[in-house]
Amino acid sequence: MKRQIITTGDGSKTIQIEDWNEQYHSIHGAIQEANHVFIKTGFDYVTANSKVDKIAILEIGFGTGLNAIITLLKTIKDQITVDYVGVEAYPVILSEIEQLNYPELLEDELASEKFKAMHNCPWEIQTEISDNFQLTKYQKRFEAISNSNQFNLIYFDAFGARIQPELWTEAIFQKMYRALKPHGVLVTYAAKGSVRRAMQAVGFNVERLPGPPGKREMLRATKIFSE
Ligand SMILES: C[S@@+](CC[C@H](N)C(=O)[O-])C[C@H]1O[C@@H](n2cnc3c(N)ncnc32)[C@H](O)[C@@H]1O
Repeated sequence: MKRQIITTGDGSKTIQIEDWNEQYHSIHGAIQEANHVFIKTGFDYVTANSKVDKIAILEIGFGTGLNAIITLLKTIKDQITVDYVGVEAYPVILSEIEQLNYPELLEDELASEKFKAMHNCPWEIQTEISDNFQLTKYQKRFEAISNSNQFNLIYFDAFGARIQPELWTEAIFQKMYRALKPHGVLVTYAAKGSVRRAMQAVGFNVERLPGPPGKREMLRATKIFSE
């Protein structure tokens, strides 16, 4: 499938899959979207409400590592320890990673070194990327996730339901619900009614919240009860 690197509305790059007319991030701004959906509505919300100094995050679709590097920089600033698990079936190749301009745009002297460390570290092995950020990348399909009661926060960043409807179903959200700790939170850029209903059907309490620029709404789902 033909892939190319494109520039999004905030100047940050993303990968476009031409045959699907689908991008890894919003064309209105990749960094802007990551900051709004995953950091502000997810990470900041969970850390403000859970009153813990250590959280476990599961990313559904590690992809370019954009959400991971922004989260790492945030952990240093906020002095929070993060155990970050990124699941990805089709790792992005290094020559594409090298064309992404996230380290320059994130304006942090550690960004370049840490972004490289995230991509160079081995798969399936927990690696310390910084004192307070442990990363484990698993090369496997989302359908194979079987964690239970482990994560405080899930970044659900699969390709859209138009492309991969099988990933926005009750069966997948059941796995996500199970993987979360009680009161754990899942955030996603999606806002479709069918997605919201699939989340509610497996027990999530779902909020519709303002989306990033270019998108009216997004969803935040909270696991209310323990199993
Ligand atoms: C929207 S992109 C991820 C964006 C990523 N979070 C980032 O910031 O670059 C979706 C990702 O899910 C991966 N993917 C698609 N189907 C998958 C599956 N069934 N299991 C695991 N990974 C999958 C793709 O390879 C892609 O990296």
